[in-house]
Amino acid sequence: EKGGFPHFMLKEIYEQPEAIRDTLRGRLDPESGRVDLSDAALSPEFFEGLRKIFFVACGTSYHAGLVGKYLLEALAGIPVEVDLASEFRYRDPLVDEGTLAVVISQSGETADTLAGLRLARDKGARVLGIVNVLGSTIAREAHRVIYTHAGPEIGVASTKAFTSQLTVILLLALYLGGLSGRLSPERARLLARELVEFPGLLQKLIPKVHPLLKELSEHYFRQENFLYLGRNILFPVALEGALKLKEISYIHAEGYAAGEMKHGPIALIEESVPTVALAPRESGVVYEKMVSNIEEVRSRRGPVLAFGTQGDEHLAGLSTDFVGLPPVSWEISPLLYTVPLQLFAYEMAVRRGCDVDQPRNLAKSVTVE
Ligand code: M6R
Repeated sequence: EKGGFPHFMLKEIYEQPEAIRDTLRGRLDPESGRVDLSDAALSPEFFEGLRKIFFVACGTSYHAGLVGKYLLEALAGIPVEVDLASEFRYRDPLVDEGTLAVVISQSGETADTLAGLRLARDKGARVLGIVNVLGSTIAREAHRVIYTHAGPEIGVASTKAFTSQLTVILLLALYLGGLSGRLSPERARLLARELVEFPGLLQKLIPKVHPLLKELSEHYFRQENFLYLGRNILFPVALEGALKLKEISYIHAEGYAAGEMKHGPIALIEESVPTVALAPRESGVVYEKMVSNIEEVRSRRGPVLAFGTQGDEHLAGLSTDFVGLPPVSWEISPLLYTVPLQLFAYEMAVRRGCDVDQPRNLAKSVTVE
Protein backbone atom coordinates (compact mmCIF):
# COMPACT_ATOMS: atom_id res chain seq x y z
CA GLU A 1 0.00 0.00 0.00
CA LYS A 2 2.98 2.30 0.52
CA GLY A 3 4.13 1.48 -2.99
CA GLY A 4 7.63 0.50 -1.88
CA PHE A 5 8.13 3.62 0.25
CA PRO A 6 8.95 3.28 3.95
CA HIS A 7 6.27 5.81 4.92
CA PHE A 8 3.10 7.27 3.48
CA MET A 9 4.53 10.74 3.90
CA LEU A 10 7.45 10.00 1.58
CA LYS A 11 5.15 8.33 -0.93
CA GLU A 12 2.92 11.38 -0.84
CA ILE A 13 5.85 13.76 -1.30
CA TYR A 14 6.83 11.78 -4.38
CA GLU A 15 3.23 11.80 -5.63
CA GLN A 16 3.12 15.58 -5.87
CA PRO A 17 3.89 15.90 -9.59
CA GLU A 18 0.94 13.60 -10.28
CA ALA A 19 -1.31 15.38 -7.78
CA ILE A 20 -0.58 18.77 -9.33
CA ARG A 21 -1.10 17.38 -12.82
CA ASP A 22 -4.44 15.84 -11.80
CA THR A 23 -5.52 19.09 -10.16
CA LEU A 24 -4.74 21.04 -13.34
CA ARG A 25 -6.28 18.53 -15.72
CA GLY A 26 -9.05 19.96 -17.88
CA ARG A 27 -8.91 23.32 -16.11
CA LEU A 28 -6.07 25.13 -17.82
CA ASP A 29 -5.35 25.66 -21.48
CA PRO A 30 -1.65 26.46 -21.88
CA GLU A 31 -2.19 27.75 -25.43
CA SER A 32 -4.62 30.51 -24.49
CA GLY A 33 -3.81 30.77 -20.78
CA ARG A 34 -7.52 30.43 -20.10
CA VAL A 35 -8.86 28.74 -16.98
CA ASP A 36 -12.04 26.69 -17.08
CA LEU A 37 -13.67 26.03 -13.72
CA SER A 38 -16.93 24.72 -15.07
CA ASP A 39 -16.37 21.40 -13.29
CA ALA A 40 -16.94 23.44 -10.11
CA ALA A 41 -19.97 25.13 -11.69
CA LEU A 42 -18.05 28.41 -11.63
CA SER A 43 -18.74 31.11 -14.16
CA PRO A 44 -18.07 34.87 -14.15
CA GLU A 45 -21.57 35.54 -12.71
CA PHE A 46 -20.60 33.85 -9.45
CA PHE A 47 -17.94 36.50 -8.92
CA GLU A 48 -20.02 39.54 -9.90
CA GLY A 49 -19.86 42.45 -7.47
CA LEU A 50 -16.99 40.88 -5.58
CA ARG A 51 -15.21 43.40 -3.36
CA LYS A 52 -13.17 41.27 -1.00
CA ILE A 53 -11.90 37.76 -0.46
CA PHE A 54 -11.47 36.01 2.87
CA PHE A 55 -9.39 32.85 3.11
CA VAL A 56 -10.40 30.78 6.13
CA ALA A 57 -8.53 27.60 7.15
CA CYS A 58 -6.35 25.87 9.76
CA GLY A 59 -2.76 24.63 9.84
CA THR A 60 -1.18 23.89 6.51
CA SER A 61 -4.36 24.87 4.67
CA TYR A 62 -4.09 28.29 6.33
CA HIS A 63 -0.60 28.63 4.87
CA ALA A 64 -2.08 27.98 1.43
CA GLY A 65 -4.47 30.86 2.12
CA LEU A 66 -1.56 33.14 3.01
CA VAL A 67 0.04 32.37 -0.35
CA GLY A 68 -3.37 33.08 -1.87
CA LYS A 69 -3.31 36.64 -0.54
CA TYR A 70 -0.08 37.41 -2.41
CA LEU A 71 -1.33 35.79 -5.60
CA LEU A 72 -4.86 37.17 -5.73
CA GLU A 73 -3.94 40.70 -4.78
CA ALA A 74 -1.14 40.76 -7.37
CA LEU A 75 -2.88 38.99 -10.23
CA ALA A 76 -6.51 39.98 -9.72
CA GLY A 77 -6.26 43.20 -7.70
CA ILE A 78 -8.85 42.11 -5.14
CA PRO A 79 -8.25 42.86 -1.45
CA VAL A 80 -7.69 39.65 0.47
CA GLU A 81 -7.78 38.82 4.17
CA VAL A 82 -6.58 35.52 5.58
CA ASP A 83 -7.85 34.22 8.88
CA LEU A 84 -7.26 31.18 11.01
CA ALA A 85 -10.68 29.57 11.16
CA SER A 86 -10.51 29.42 14.96
CA GLU A 87 -10.07 33.21 15.05
CA PHE A 88 -12.50 34.04 12.27
CA ARG A 89 -15.36 32.18 13.91
CA TYR A 90 -15.11 33.97 17.24
CA ARG A 91 -14.79 37.52 16.05
CA ASP A 92 -17.23 39.55 14.09
CA PRO A 93 -15.55 39.60 10.67
CA LEU A 94 -16.63 42.24 8.15
CA VAL A 95 -18.33 39.87 5.77
CA ASP A 96 -21.24 40.75 3.49
CA GLU A 97 -22.74 40.00 0.07
CA GLY A 98 -19.67 41.47 -1.62
CA THR A 99 -17.42 38.96 0.11
CA LEU A 100 -16.14 35.68 -1.22
CA ALA A 101 -15.13 33.31 1.56
CA VAL A 102 -12.65 30.73 0.33
CA VAL A 103 -12.59 27.87 2.78
CA ILE A 104 -9.60 25.53 2.40
CA SER A 105 -9.54 22.03 3.84
CA GLN A 106 -7.93 18.77 2.83
CA SER A 107 -10.32 16.63 4.88
CA GLY A 108 -13.36 18.84 4.49
CA GLU A 109 -14.22 18.00 8.10
CA THR A 110 -12.15 20.40 10.23
CA ALA A 111 -14.49 21.71 12.95
CA ASP A 112 -13.26 25.32 13.06
CA THR A 113 -13.14 25.61 9.28
CA LEU A 114 -16.68 24.28 9.00
CA ALA A 115 -17.86 26.77 11.64
CA GLY A 116 -16.12 29.56 9.69
CA LEU A 117 -17.90 28.46 6.53
CA ARG A 118 -21.28 28.57 8.25
CA LEU A 119 -20.60 31.99 9.76
CA ALA A 120 -19.56 33.43 6.39
CA ARG A 121 -22.59 31.91 4.69
CA ASP A 122 -24.96 33.24 7.36
CA LYS A 123 -23.51 36.71 6.89
CA GLY A 124 -24.37 36.57 3.20
CA ALA A 125 -20.99 35.74 1.68
CA ARG A 126 -20.52 33.49 -1.28
CA VAL A 127 -18.61 30.45 -0.11
CA LEU A 128 -16.12 28.58 -2.24
CA GLY A 129 -14.50 25.44 -0.86
CA ILE A 130 -11.08 24.12 -1.85
CA VAL A 131 -11.39 20.56 -0.65
CA ASN A 132 -9.69 17.23 -1.25
CA VAL A 133 -12.19 14.72 0.15
CA LEU A 134 -15.15 14.22 -2.13
CA GLY A 135 -18.55 14.72 -0.53
CA SER A 136 -17.10 15.84 2.82
CA THR A 137 -19.13 18.19 5.01
CA ILE A 138 -17.33 21.34 3.87
CA ALA A 139 -17.69 20.26 0.25
CA ARG A 140 -21.43 19.76 0.78
CA GLU A 141 -22.04 23.01 2.63
CA ALA A 142 -20.03 25.40 0.43
CA HIS A 143 -21.87 27.08 -2.46
CA ARG A 144 -19.20 25.87 -4.85
CA VAL A 145 -16.24 23.48 -4.53
CA ILE A 146 -13.03 23.31 -6.49
CA TYR A 147 -11.64 19.91 -5.68
CA THR A 148 -7.94 19.31 -5.30
CA HIS A 149 -7.23 16.00 -6.96
CA ALA A 150 -4.42 14.96 -4.63
CA GLY A 151 -5.87 11.50 -3.99
CA PRO A 152 -6.03 10.08 -0.46
CA GLU A 153 -3.52 11.61 1.93
CA ILE A 154 -2.72 9.19 4.76
CA GLY A 155 0.29 10.80 6.45
CA VAL A 156 -0.80 13.23 9.17
CA ALA A 157 1.61 15.82 7.79
CA SER A 158 -0.02 17.47 4.82
CA THR A 159 2.18 17.40 1.72
CA LYS A 160 0.50 16.71 -1.61
CA ALA A 161 -2.75 18.21 -0.35
CA PHE A 162 -0.92 21.49 0.27
CA THR A 163 0.71 21.72 -3.14
CA SER A 164 -2.61 20.79 -4.75
CA GLN A 165 -4.28 23.60 -2.80
CA LEU A 166 -1.61 25.99 -4.07
CA THR A 167 -2.36 24.76 -7.57
CA VAL A 168 -6.08 25.50 -7.22
CA ILE A 169 -5.31 28.94 -5.80
CA LEU A 170 -3.07 29.64 -8.79
CA LEU A 171 -5.92 28.62 -11.09
CA LEU A 172 -8.27 30.91 -9.19
CA ALA A 173 -5.80 33.79 -9.42
CA LEU A 174 -5.41 33.26 -13.18
CA TYR A 175 -9.19 33.08 -13.54
CA LEU A 176 -9.93 36.21 -11.52
CA GLY A 177 -6.91 37.99 -13.01
CA GLY A 178 -8.42 37.40 -16.44
CA LEU A 179 -11.87 38.57 -15.31
CA SER A 180 -10.55 41.74 -13.72
CA GLY A 181 -8.38 42.52 -16.73
CA ARG A 182 -5.40 43.08 -14.46
CA LEU A 183 -3.56 40.06 -15.82
CA SER A 184 -2.53 40.51 -19.44
CA PRO A 185 -3.29 37.63 -21.81
CA GLU A 186 0.44 37.36 -22.58
CA ARG A 187 1.40 36.97 -18.94
CA ALA A 188 -1.48 34.52 -18.44
CA ARG A 189 -0.22 32.42 -21.32
CA LEU A 190 3.34 32.39 -20.01
CA LEU A 191 2.22 31.42 -16.53
CA ALA A 192 -0.15 28.76 -17.81
CA ARG A 193 2.64 27.18 -19.81
CA GLU A 194 5.01 27.24 -16.87
CA LEU A 195 2.38 25.75 -14.59
CA VAL A 196 1.59 22.92 -17.00
CA GLU A 197 5.28 22.11 -17.28
CA PHE A 198 5.88 22.33 -13.56
CA PRO A 199 4.94 18.70 -12.66
CA GLY A 200 7.60 17.46 -15.10
CA LEU A 201 10.18 19.72 -13.52
CA LEU A 202 9.24 18.53 -10.04
CA GLN A 203 9.32 14.90 -11.07
CA LYS A 204 12.96 15.25 -12.08
CA LEU A 205 13.85 17.43 -9.12
CA ILE A 206 12.57 15.28 -6.24
CA PRO A 207 14.84 12.26 -6.74
CA LYS A 208 17.71 14.65 -7.40
CA VAL A 209 17.46 16.75 -4.23
CA HIS A 210 16.27 13.98 -1.92
CA PRO A 211 19.74 12.44 -1.34
CA LEU A 212 21.18 15.87 -0.64
CA LEU A 213 18.50 16.65 1.96
CA LYS A 214 19.03 13.28 3.54
CA GLU A 215 22.72 14.04 3.84
CA LEU A 216 21.98 17.47 5.32
CA SER A 217 19.67 15.91 7.90
CA GLU A 218 22.74 14.01 9.16
CA HIS A 219 24.34 17.35 10.04
CA TYR A 220 21.30 18.96 11.55
CA PHE A 221 19.21 16.30 13.27
CA ARG A 222 20.62 16.86 16.75
CA GLN A 223 19.61 20.52 16.85
CA GLU A 224 16.58 21.41 18.95
CA ASN A 225 15.74 24.87 17.59
CA PHE A 226 15.33 26.14 14.05
CA LEU A 227 14.38 29.42 12.49
CA TYR A 228 12.79 29.46 9.03
CA LEU A 229 12.99 32.74 7.13
CA GLY A 230 11.33 33.90 3.96
CA ARG A 231 9.96 37.09 2.48
CA ASN A 232 7.00 38.03 0.36
CA ILE A 233 5.31 35.02 -1.24
CA LEU A 234 7.86 32.67 0.37
CA PHE A 235 7.11 33.90 3.87
CA PRO A 236 4.12 31.50 4.16
CA VAL A 237 6.37 28.76 2.77
CA ALA A 238 8.79 29.41 5.65
CA LEU A 239 5.86 29.04 8.06
CA GLU A 240 4.88 25.79 6.38
CA GLY A 241 8.46 24.45 6.44
CA ALA A 242 8.68 25.15 10.17
CA LEU A 243 5.30 23.52 10.85
CA LYS A 244 6.37 20.41 8.94
CA LEU A 245 9.57 20.10 10.94
CA LYS A 246 7.92 20.61 14.32
CA GLU A 247 4.97 18.31 13.80
CA ILE A 248 6.92 15.26 12.68
CA SER A 249 10.37 15.63 14.29
CA TYR A 250 9.32 17.46 17.50
CA ILE A 251 12.05 20.02 16.93
CA HIS A 252 11.10 23.53 17.88
CA ALA A 253 10.92 25.52 14.67
CA GLU A 254 9.63 29.01 14.09
CA GLY A 255 8.76 30.53 10.77
CA TYR A 256 9.35 34.25 10.45
CA ALA A 257 9.19 36.98 7.87
CA ALA A 258 12.90 37.71 7.51
CA GLY A 259 12.31 41.44 7.92
CA GLU A 260 11.17 40.78 11.49
CA MET A 261 14.57 39.44 12.52
CA LYS A 262 15.68 42.70 14.10
CA HIS A 263 12.41 42.94 16.00
CA GLY A 264 13.18 39.99 18.22
CA PRO A 265 14.20 36.63 16.80
CA ILE A 266 17.79 37.62 16.03
CA ALA A 267 18.36 37.43 19.79
CA LEU A 268 18.05 33.64 19.45
CA ILE A 269 20.87 33.29 16.97
CA GLU A 270 23.93 31.34 18.08
CA GLU A 271 25.88 28.31 16.92
CA SER A 272 23.24 25.82 17.99
CA VAL A 273 20.30 27.59 16.30
CA PRO A 274 20.32 26.97 12.55
CA THR A 275 18.36 29.14 10.15
CA VAL A 276 16.67 27.83 7.05
CA ALA A 277 16.53 30.66 4.51
CA LEU A 278 14.52 30.84 1.29
CA ALA A 279 16.25 33.13 -1.17
CA PRO A 280 15.63 32.68 -4.90
CA ARG A 281 17.77 35.05 -6.93
CA GLU A 282 14.76 35.86 -9.15
CA SER A 283 12.99 37.54 -6.25
CA GLY A 284 14.49 40.95 -7.01
CA VAL A 285 14.82 43.43 -4.17
CA VAL A 286 13.65 40.83 -1.69
CA TYR A 287 16.63 38.67 -2.66
CA GLU A 288 19.05 41.41 -1.62
CA LYS A 289 17.20 41.72 1.68
CA MET A 290 17.40 37.97 2.27
CA VAL A 291 21.13 38.06 1.57
CA SER A 292 21.55 40.77 4.24
CA ASN A 293 19.54 38.70 6.70
CA ILE A 294 21.74 35.68 6.00
CA GLU A 295 24.86 37.79 6.56
CA GLU A 296 23.45 38.99 9.87
CA VAL A 297 22.85 35.41 10.98
CA ARG A 298 26.28 34.23 9.86
CA SER A 299 28.04 37.11 11.64
CA ARG A 300 26.45 35.84 14.86
CA ARG A 301 27.78 32.35 14.14
CA GLY A 302 24.36 30.95 13.26
CA PRO A 303 24.47 28.13 10.69
CA VAL A 304 22.41 28.83 7.56
CA LEU A 305 20.84 26.25 5.31
CA ALA A 306 19.87 28.26 2.26
CA PHE A 307 17.50 27.29 -0.53
CA GLY A 308 18.07 29.39 -3.61
CA THR A 309 18.59 29.43 -7.34
CA GLN A 310 20.96 26.82 -8.71
CA GLY A 311 24.25 28.36 -9.74
CA ASP A 312 23.95 31.18 -7.21
CA GLU A 313 27.55 31.00 -6.05
CA HIS A 314 27.24 34.16 -4.02
CA LEU A 315 24.47 32.72 -1.85
CA ALA A 316 26.18 29.33 -1.69
CA GLY A 317 29.36 31.03 -0.46
CA LEU A 318 27.54 32.98 2.23
CA SER A 319 25.63 30.01 3.61
CA THR A 320 26.75 27.01 5.63
CA ASP A 321 24.83 24.71 3.32
CA PHE A 322 23.10 25.44 0.05
CA VAL A 323 20.41 23.70 -1.96
CA GLY A 324 20.04 24.98 -5.53
CA LEU A 325 16.67 24.88 -7.24
CA PRO A 326 15.73 25.75 -10.82
CA PRO A 327 14.61 29.32 -11.53
CA VAL A 328 10.82 29.71 -11.69
CA SER A 329 8.36 32.59 -11.80
CA TRP A 330 7.38 34.33 -8.59
CA GLU A 331 3.86 32.84 -8.78
CA ILE A 332 5.19 29.27 -9.00
CA SER A 333 7.94 29.64 -6.39
CA PRO A 334 5.81 28.55 -3.38
CA LEU A 335 5.06 25.24 -5.12
CA LEU A 336 8.74 24.66 -5.77
CA TYR A 337 10.26 25.75 -2.46
CA THR A 338 7.76 23.76 -0.38
CA VAL A 339 8.94 20.39 -1.61
CA PRO A 340 12.58 20.32 -0.43
CA LEU A 341 11.41 21.58 2.97
CA GLN A 342 9.07 18.58 3.21
CA LEU A 343 11.92 16.23 2.33
CA PHE A 344 14.16 17.88 4.90
CA ALA A 345 11.54 17.57 7.66
CA TYR A 346 10.91 13.96 6.68
CA GLU A 347 14.58 12.96 6.80
CA MET A 348 15.12 14.80 10.09
CA ALA A 349 12.17 12.95 11.66
CA VAL A 350 13.35 9.59 10.34
CA ARG A 351 16.84 10.24 11.66
CA ARG A 352 15.37 11.03 15.08
CA GLY A 353 13.38 7.80 15.06
CA CYS A 354 9.99 9.53 15.09
CA ASP A 355 6.74 8.02 13.91
CA VAL A 356 6.53 10.06 10.73
CA ASP A 357 3.05 9.08 9.60
CA GLN A 358 1.46 9.21 13.05
CA PRO A 359 3.11 11.98 15.05
CA ARG A 360 2.27 12.05 18.75
CA ASN A 361 -0.82 13.98 19.87
CA LEU A 362 -1.99 14.67 16.32
CA ALA A 363 -4.94 13.45 14.29
CA LYS A 364 -5.32 13.59 10.53
CA SER A 365 -8.67 15.27 10.75
CA VAL A 366 -9.49 17.66 13.60
CA THR A 367 -13.24 17.30 13.90
CA VAL A 368 -13.47 18.74 17.42
CA GLU A 369 -12.26 22.12 18.65
O1 M6R B 1 -8.09 18.86 6.65
P1 M6R B 1 -7.65 20.28 6.81
O2 M6R B 1 -6.90 20.81 5.64
O3 M6R B 1 -8.79 21.20 7.19
O4 M6R B 1 -6.66 20.26 8.04
C1 M6R B 1 -6.10 21.43 8.57
C2 M6R B 1 -4.97 21.12 9.52
O5 M6R B 1 -5.41 20.33 10.58
C3 M6R B 1 -3.81 20.41 8.82
O6 M6R B 1 -3.35 21.11 7.71
C4 M6R B 1 -2.64 20.20 9.79
O7 M6R B 1 -2.07 21.43 10.13
C5 M6R B 1 -1.61 19.24 9.19
N1 M6R B 1 -1.28 18.19 10.11
C6 M6R B 1 -0.34 19.93 8.81
O8 M6R B 1 0.59 19.06 8.23
